[in-house]
Amino acid sequence: MSYNLLKGKRGIIFGALDENSIAWKTAERVHAEGGTFVLTNAPVAMRMGQIKVLAEKTGSEVIPADATSQEDLENLVIKSMEILGGKLDFVLHSIGMSINVRKGRHYTDENYDFTTKGWDISALSFHRVLQNLYKADAMNEWGSVVALTYMAAQRTFPDYNDMADNKAYLESIARSFGYFFGKEKKVRVNTISQSPTATTAGSGVKGFDGFISYAEKMSPLGNATAQDCADYTVSLFSDLTKKVTMQNLFHDGGFSSTGVSQEVIERFSE
Ligand SMILES: NC(=O)c1ccc[n+]([C@@H]2O[C@H](COP(=O)([O-])OP(=O)(O)OC[C@H]3O[C@@H](n4cnc5c(N)ncnc54)[C@H](O)[C@@H]3O)[C@@H](O)[C@H]2O)c1
Repeated sequence: MSYNLLKGKRGIIFGALDENSIAWKTAERVHAEGGTFVLTNAPVAMRMGQIKVLAEKTGSEVIPADATSQEDLENLVIKSMEILGGKLDFVLHSIGMSINVRKGRHYTDENYDFTTKGWDISALSFHRVLQNLYKADAMNEWGSVVALTYMAAQRTFPDYNDMADNKAYLESIARSFGYFFGKEKKVRVNTISQSPTATTAGSGVKGFDGFISYAEKMSPLGNATAQDCADYTVSLFSDLTKKVTMQNLFHDGGFSSTGVSQEVIERFSE
């Protein structure tokens, strides 16, 4: 069902790698709600990914950009405004990668070059994106920027490794930048803390299958899917949430407020 919530709105969507990606589902949903956008991803991801299929489906153009490159981001912001014919109303940052996780390095044995690179991609890139939008005066008033995060920023999930620290940093940027973007340009900045979701990035976390079914059993509403996340993101891009800013918004079927569920108790009762 569509409600034309984003009719006439323009934006940039980072991070659609394949059809499982949260950004992919969001792009489809934004398109259905009447929004137009530029799709972007790291040049290396474009070679592996299927982003062109999504671009055709949604009538979008693709501009490669490494989210750690100032030059790429500057070009992306300027070109997007040219292509879309004006300033932007929404931006989705859906980017994450830990090299320590990929290479199987334990949290107590981090390779700090990997840590730094992962932080640059997963956390600092959010500041870079915001700073580029801010300096280019690229956002319309009441525009909305959303980044995706995970609850490991607040609570320990041992196998989430250094991504937990990256997410804590990312969430802090939403508050810090959100202040200035709100005051100066009436733009809102939020993070969505999403349930574990079966995607390329998600499945890279060790023990992900156990992790996702545990969360499912712990959440009164069940895990939020990528599709659910797309719906929620649309609401944050729409004019219906104009005064929501600098928040970390849990989108997890109730997981974050649940101490224990009946299903989990039964599992541990003899
Ligand atoms: N899947 C989960 O369980 C889950 C849960 C909560 C939050 N998240 C977050 O959601 C976001 C999207 O992840 P996803 O689960 O859809 O997985 P995904 O693997 O589909 O998306 C991650 C994206 O990051 C992109 N990326 C990596 N390095 C980049 C760079 N240097 N420049 C630009 N883009 C780069 C990848 O190409 C990919 O498109 C991430 O921030 C992730 O941490 C995921």
